Amino acid sequence: MYHLRNITSNIKACLFDLDGVLVDTAIYHYQAWKRLANTMNFDFAEEQNEQLKGVSRMESLTKILAWGNITKTEREKMELAALKNSWYVEMISKMTPNEVLPGTVEFLTAITKAGYKLALGSASKNSSLILERTNLTHFFHEIVDGNSVNKSKPDPEVFIKGAELLNVSAKECVVFEDAVAGIEAAKAGGMKAIGIGKKNILVHADLVVSGLDKLTIEDLERL
Ligand code: BG6
Ligand code: MG
Repeated sequence: MYHLRNITSNIKACLFDLDGVLVDTAIYHYQAWKRLANTMNFDFAEEQNEQLKGVSRMESLTKILAWGNITKTEREKMELAALKNSWYVEMISKMTPNEVLPGTVEFLTAITKAGYKLALGSASKNSSLILERTNLTHFFHEIVDGNSVNKSKPDPEVFIKGAELLNVSAKECVVFEDAVAGIEAAKAGGMKAIGIGKKNILVHADLVVSGLDKLTIEDLERL
């Protein structure tokens, strides 16, 4: 049983994306995908990498192969995705709590104390390793990630599952997301969405801030 204390807003639960919200793993994804593209003799820019945020591993690979004008069989695609992931895992295995984004530990501590329920809602199949390496696991009552969903964001499945596991309704949830697809998923699920990033990009969010260091409990109460 979770105990709700002090909460004066309609929001009872906070659902967090991982990559780009709590930790900056986008750079590792980028480096590993770039290395893979280079083995096939092409390259892509950091701006193109933006389109891969929030997108599942296989969908990311499909986009990258299209940029390189390369056709592969399903079997070859599986092998390429596994190779990329082995390089990515090598990098995230060395992560430390220093790589947690500014204000994250303070904000998660504050909302926990205030009685909000917390769940992770990530597309990544590597979320457990990242949370462990960065010492964030203990904050989450439930973890929903790429291993437990069938449909990728912008489908709301990942957040709907999170709400169900926390035993709250969609209306009682706020989602924290850095990806356009993630904000769309939250909205499609009937939830509030706080964008972490830029207002001109995360146009459908209820509120946009540059990072969790810019948020207070009062912001949640005002939603
Ligand atoms: C998302 C990232 O959180 O997870 C994407 O924003 C990534 O860039 C996706 O492709 C899947 O991650 P993984 O760790 O399962 O390859
Ligand atoms: Mg993200």
